Amino acid sequence: MRAVQFQNPGEPSSVLRLQTVERPVPKHGEVLVRMLASPVNPSDLMFIRGHYTIPAQCPATPGFEGVGIVEASGGGLRGLLFRGKRVVVLNKRGGNWADYAIVPAEQVIPISKGLSDEQAATFFVNPATAWVMTREVLKVPAGGWLVQTAAGSALGQMIIRLAKHCGFRTINIVRREAQKDELLRLGADHVEVCDGSEESCERLTAQLQTLTGGVKYAVDAVGGSTGSAVVRSLGLNGRMLAYGTLSGQPLQFSPRTLMTVGSSVEGFWLGNFMSGVGLPFKLSLVRRLTRLIQSGILSTEISGSWTLETVADAVVAAEKSVQTARGKCLLRM
Ligand SMILES: NC(=O)c1ccc[n+]([C@@H]2O[C@H](COP(=O)([O-])OP(=O)(O)OC[C@H]3O[C@@H](n4cnc5c(N)ncnc54)[C@H](OP(=O)(O)O)[C@@H]3O)[C@@H](O)[C@H]2O)c1
Repeated sequence: MRAVQFQNPGEPSSVLRLQTVERPVPKHGEVLVRMLASPVNPSDLMFIRGHYTIPAQCPATPGFEGVGIVEASGGGLRGLLFRGKRVVVLNKRGGNWADYAIVPAEQVIPISKGLSDEQAATFFVNPATAWVMTREVLKVPAGGWLVQTAAGSALGQMIIRLAKHCGFRTINIVRREAQKDELLRLGADHVEVCDGSEESCERLTAQLQTLTGGVKYAVDAVGGSTGSAVVRSLGLNGRMLAYGTLSGQPLQFSPRTLMTVGSSVEGFWLGNFMSGVGLPFKLSLVRRLTRLIQSGILSTEISGSWTLETVADAVVAAEKSVQTARGKCLLRM
């Protein structure tokens, strides 16, 4: 079978190679999935660069999510039930950028026929994170303000649409002026441009104070100076979830910033959250996400499809600004 691999972490467009490897055999409790499609997510690119939470066991194949058909099972009830079914593949170790992937049977989710392969391939990571952060963890009330950085990302746009649906309001921070109108058209209540410079961060903190009187709910995927400016804007008992490191820079703020108003910064990682919830919650989340994706609220815009042979082009396209490539890049097997 074909598998995209890297021998050492590094720049994705340079280190990825398409190799021919033995097709793996599933062990008890595992399933063999014939992959149909898998998106290029920021977490995949961090994994290839060696910056992700989970270090790669090289030679390694990237790909944390995707869709495929269960072809074989190594034994176990779930594996038998899922044989022949189209499933969402949540591959915690990476490995979906290949013709076949092996995963524990509990990491596949049978998916509604009503969802296209494109929406099935992007079914979980971003939609679930958007829902869980805003509705389950922060529980932003109707009418409340949520501040978010990287608001133009696929996930950021889902949060804007979800806010309209649920009745909370969003203040959206982007780094490019050109994104402002697009997000306002999407339903953003307010958009602030912050390029991370000292001047724009000071302006942002002041503006957030004026708009909210002290931010109560925030989610940050950028870190660095922009994320730190949001921390400084937190008001009484304000909470910020740190869920990404797009700038590659640490958050920097005085402990006094938190002490004086009792605010907090918490890390959020979907994998950890899902490990702590039971099967009934997971099943109801899958049903909810299916409905919200079908109605377009948590759907993913796809910018284009690439083959495994053209993976180097796909990873370059995935990091191009939205100005030139809107939406997610998808690898089709
Ligand atoms: N913690 C979790 O469980 C979890 C789960 C899902 C996703 N995430 C994180 O969520 C974030 C968004 O994911 P996605 O798939 O929606 O991303 P995406 O669609 O690929 O978009 C990436 C966005 O990040 C912006 N960006 C990149 N570098 C930036 C920087 N230095 N400063 C400000 N903005 C920057 C880009 O802005 P331009 O348009 O200006 O280029 C683009 O809008 C990622 O950090 C991802 O790792 C975390």
